[in-house]
Amino acid sequence: MNKLETTYLGLKLRNPVIVASSGLTNTVEKIKNLEAKGAGAVVLKSLFEEQIYFEAGKLASHTDYPEALDYVNFYTKNNSVQEYLDLIKNAKATVNIPVIASINCVSSKGWVDFAKKIELAGADALEVNVFVLPIDKSLTSDKIESIYFELAENLQKILSIPIAFKLSSHFSNLVGFVQKLNVPGVILFNRLYAPDIDIDTMKFGSADIFSSPSDIRNSLRWVGILSSKITKTDIAASTGIHDGKAVIKQLLAGATAVQVCSTLYKNGLDQLETIIKDIEKWMKTNGYNHIDEFRGKMSYNKIEDPQIYERSQFMKYFSSIQ
Ligand SMILES: Cc1cc2nc3c(=O)[nH]c(=O)nc-3n(C[C@H](O)[C@H](O)[C@H](O)COP(=O)(O)O)c2cc1C
Repeated sequence: MNKLETTYLGLKLRNPVIVASSGLTNTVEKIKNLEAKGAGAVVLKSLFEEQIYFEAGKLASHTDYPEALDYVNFYTKNNSVQEYLDLIKNAKATVNIPVIASINCVSSKGWVDFAKKIELAGADALEVNVFVLPIDKSLTSDKIESIYFELAENLQKILSIPIAFKLSSHFSNLVGFVQKLNVPGVILFNRLYAPDIDIDTMKFGSADIFSSPSDIRNSLRWVGILSSKITKTDIAASTGIHDGKAVIKQLLAGATAVQVCSTLYKNGLDQLETIIKDIEKWMKTNGYNHIDEFRGKMSYNKIEDPQIYERSQFMKYFSSIQ
């Protein structure tokens, strides 16, 4: 068996490094190239829920999600839902690595039937990128979380392919939430768009689009905890994974696979080969013949002092830093 081979969402991956949903995966040519560079799987650029409504003539000129409307206006000029299905079909006909489709949604209904078309087009799995911004004072947390649960239930009723939810870390009890979500996989975490303010022009722009290596910190903690507490759900670690070291850390914490994006934009696609070589080199140095031999070795349950994952206040440990 190949020493990096792994199973994610029931799919066989030659290695655990998945290229995340982004402009890196929006054409067959790009996907073919990613396969040649060593990607274990790809997640296609997301199809947005609003885009589907738009195509169906259902999207009103007013939307509660201004960012989404901008996106729709731009994106639908160049793309169509049918093109997305064609992309899945053609990618599947061209590459051997798993092709995971992605949908970005803000509600639990309406577009679920479309997911079936994604399955019929040949996608190996479906990634669901959903985030409900909790800003309505009258909405309880239960109500908000029920949107995710309904979505997971509705999708799993009609799909045979596995689904994975790409989550933000903004949940009051992530462990309980993932347990109740009850899906084959979760991606920890999504990196959400965030606004920034230009104080000279007094205009809004976007905060940094790309992550940096230090952004791994939040996901590493939760991968370590969740992989111990919810063993039936695969975890793809995401955000801030820029090199082989970061992949090894996430595997030690218990990740099933990882997703990379910013590092490929910043360092080029050859970074994929570098990451894979660096993992292999580390495994050789440390005497591991397969990633299963060290995966989860430093997760919450496997270490002597699991409190290391629970520590969140700096006070006691860094009192020497003035
Ligand atoms: C240019 C760009 C486009 C993206 N488009 C999508 C998208 O369509 N759907 C999605 O779920 N995530 C999208 N993402 C988020 C990435 O998939 C990934 O979750 C995020 O960049 C964090 O990973 P990283 O630290 O490796 O970059 C995009 C990110 C970038 C930089």
